Amino acid sequence: MKGDMVFELSRVSYTYMNDGDALESISMRIRKGENVSILGANGSGKSTLLKLLDGLYFPSSGEFRAFGSSIHESSMNDKKISMEFHKRVGFIFQDPDAQLFLPTVWDEVTFAPLQLGLSKNRVKEIASEVLNKMGLYGLKDRTPYHLSEGEKKKVCIASIFTLDPEVWLMDEPTASLDPQTQGWMIDFILELAKRGKTCIIATHDLEIPYVTSQTCYILGEDHKILAEGKAKELLSQKDILLKANLIHKHRHFHNGSVHIHPHEHWHV
Ligand SMILES: Nc1ncnc2c1ncn2[C@@H]1O[C@H](COP(=O)(O)OP(=O)(O)OP(=O)(O)O)[C@@H](O)[C@H]1O
Ligand SMILES: [Mg+2]
Repeated sequence: MKGDMVFELSRVSYTYMNDGDALESISMRIRKGENVSILGANGSGKSTLLKLLDGLYFPSSGEFRAFGSSIHESSMNDKKISMEFHKRVGFIFQDPDAQLFLPTVWDEVTFAPLQLGLSKNRVKEIASEVLNKMGLYGLKDRTPYHLSEGEKKKVCIASIFTLDPEVWLMDEPTASLDPQTQGWMIDFILELAKRGKTCIIATHDLEIPYVTSQTCYILGEDHKILAEGKAKELLSQKDILLKANLIHKHRHFHNGSVHIHPHEHWHV
């Protein structure tokens, strides 16, 4: 159904000023409640694609539609339209330092709801609830800059969680997390999915699509879609995973000779 469509990209390309292409003729349709993984080698364009879906960048050519409307720089420059959009779409950056900019964790998690004009008491309630739920309340007076990478990532999530958007864009959500916190992150994504949220996740961590996603797009080093389809089917195609640098050839010694075979760093 048309009304179910969250994002539609039609032959979208993006070129950084004075640099080469970052996205080349990308077409995709993402429905409400769909869980999508974007996989691909370093530099293939995953972060650029998520920034485009967050209305931070705009296609150099092609069309981007969100919630049925065409998105342009001029519309997103309108404060009201941009605020409405960002109430519905939350973005967890690949680098937490690019997202966190306030003196304390408390300031970070109260910033967005205050911007939306909620009363101070209501904001206090929401922020306390989210921090407690995520086990972060004890860090509320800390400076984000001095937190560990994993703690920073959780604060980024908490600051988006206060808005509880319907669409979550996550860029490498399990990167630099310890194995237990990676598990926590996967459970968090599954919980969002259970609550009907649309999650679009850029990652190299193949456990994420395997466990959480229905649909998978793999970007190639030429910045085009190399493959798309059902997550579990794509993950079984080792030739495509090798081509996209998602698994590597593992080298080891056998009886004095070198033996090479495809090697995956994910186990389910
Ligand atoms: N601010 C920028 N200015 C110029 N070129 C950029 C900029 N950001 C990214 N690029 C280029 O655009 C291409 C896509 O980069 P992008 O960060 O989207 O890739 P990625 O798939 O997210 O990579 P990674 O797995 O390393 O995070 C790369 O060739 C990169 O060098
Ligand atoms: Mg990236």
